Amino acid sequence: MSAKPDLPEDFLSIADWPTAAIEAMLDRAVELKAMRRRGEQIAPLAGRSALMYFAKPSLRTFVSFQVAVTELGGNAVFLPPEQVQIGEREPTEDVARNLERFVHLIIARTYGHDLLETLARQARVPVINALSDLLHPCQAMADALTIREHGDLRRDLLVYVGDGNNVAHSLMNVAGVLGMQLVVCTPEGFEPDPAVTRRARELAAASGGEIRLGSDPVQAVKDAAFIYTDVWASMGQEDEADARRERFRPYQVNEDLVAAAPAAVRVLHCLPAHRGEEITAGVFESGRSLVFEQAENRLHAQKAVIEALMS
Ligand code: CP
Ligand code: NVA
Repeated sequence: MSAKPDLPEDFLSIADWPTAAIEAMLDRAVELKAMRRRGEQIAPLAGRSALMYFAKPSLRTFVSFQVAVTELGGNAVFLPPEQVQIGEREPTEDVARNLERFVHLIIARTYGHDLLETLARQARVPVINALSDLLHPCQAMADALTIREHGDLRRDLLVYVGDGNNVAHSLMNVAGVLGMQLVVCTPEGFEPDPAVTRRARELAAASGGEIRLGSDPVQAVKDAAFIYTDVWASMGQEDEADARRERFRPYQVNEDLVAAAPAAVRVLHCLPAHRGEEITAGVFESGRSLVFEQAENRLHAQKAVIEALMS
């Protein structure tokens, strides 16, 4: 996430935000969720437009952002990647300097994180990361909201099992900022990015949290309140899917792994899920699974993020 109006220019990830600001967004997300249930309407984006640029497929992020902008009284404009051909028809910098003349907010899903950063640095309007190869911050905000609703955000142990990917990176960032207890358990060679890990751990040291890495899922979930998993091959890694399937098999969130955790453990997944790969159908459909609440929370968390950036 980045913001121009009231915040320093280098606010480029959750890790760069003050704890109080992220906590305030989660508080606001809870309020916005209750207001929506009551049918209360607000329009802080009245007369303003948000540009949605998605270079990768999306269900949850695309729909929840479009609904979020609409429910905040704004107008969402969808710009298909083939229409603008960023970097081919026109340099990213020029695209950004055009978009800022028309819209008040840019929401972008990209492959390389550098494209997002260029947009964020060039456009004098806030840019929200709707997923890049490196980070998925809005997912992590919704995840923190879900954990807060179902447990104790600072005390409960969250164990991420799988690939050290964009989702893991943003979970580490949010855990570091909010003082959460997080274990990221991956096969060797698939650990999260060392720079992201270092920074998240520095934040955790200051916030009272703890972020550990591991490679033994059964050991890792022993004290887990929440087990989280994501696909083994992310968008853009389709060529590696077969090789990864073999490598990640011991990291499947299945009935045996859940049985190794405390009886009250809950299961999270950012979705889309591949049943029979990173999670079994039985665990996915079980009463432990919070995945659709987690998906709904994308909407509420993103509304709070948009409000914070646009206020
Ligand atoms: N979790 C998530 O970002 O889903 P989509 O890819 O469908 O947006
Ligand atoms: N790690 C996955 C998350 C999808 C929401 C991906 O990037 O494809």
